[in-house]
Amino acid sequence: MSIGLKSKGEVSLMLEAGRILILAMEEMRKAIAPGITTYEIDKIGERTMKDLGGVPACKGYGGFPAAVCVSVNDEVVHGIPSKYRELKDGDIVSLDTVTAYQGYHADAARTYAVGKISAEKEKLIRVTKESFFEGLKQCVPGNRIGDISRAVFNHIVKNGFSANRYYTGHGIGEEMHEAPNVPNFPRFFKGPKLKPGMVICIEPMVNMGDHEVELLDDDWTAVTADGSPAAHYENTVLITKDKPVILTKAQGIDI
Ligand code: MF3
Ligand code: CO
Repeated sequence: MSIGLKSKGEVSLMLEAGRILILAMEEMRKAIAPGITTYEIDKIGERTMKDLGGVPACKGYGGFPAAVCVSVNDEVVHGIPSKYRELKDGDIVSLDTVTAYQGYHADAARTYAVGKISAEKEKLIRVTKESFFEGLKQCVPGNRIGDISRAVFNHIVKNGFSANRYYTGHGIGEEMHEAPNVPNFPRFFKGPKLKPGMVICIEPMVNMGDHEVELLDDDWTAVTADGSPAAHYENTVLITKDKPVILTKAQGIDI
């Protein structure tokens, strides 16, 4: 599959999608507290996106029933929001969502603490975020996708955690998932070269314990096989001739 390079006009639509997404993420973050259900968090995200003129693109995608993937503790990705799942003190919760604006997509994920969490969970969240930024440093033209993968992977492993091997980052644009794949582990072939105009999602998914994951019977929720907690961090990134530009951002909100 060929890798599309985005025009300035397309990038500006993706920037707006990213802005709406991050504002929705911020509303969800503020609502996180012991007692809230994952369903309520999803509804806040969906409502905020719609109010700001965005389309919650996860809803209905491949049959996914909600606007936001909400994954708690050992759930790695694609957790389905539920009225029966209340967050409790000491949990960590990963929010992963995609917003479309005039046909163009942005994708981001964050993991947040619920109340007071253990030092080890704090470290897991921090290292997951840092590994994204290690990958981001490799986002210069001439480097390959594999340079991002290796940087992400090395940072995770150096800190005693493990990187997910089944789910990868991806290109993005008119589709939520476009070429190329952006794995969180190095492969023998380093993959395509980065070029200005490419837009990719870098999304480290990190397990505190072993890397193995299992799929629940709902066919969506991936959990760690050993029950250890997992974290996720993702942004949509534009490759330019100089520094990469994060498209999932909004003024006044920390990345
Ligand atoms: N960031 C997630 C991904 O790339 C978003 C999934 S939306 C869903 O897989 F609908 F597929 F869950
Ligand atoms: Co993604």
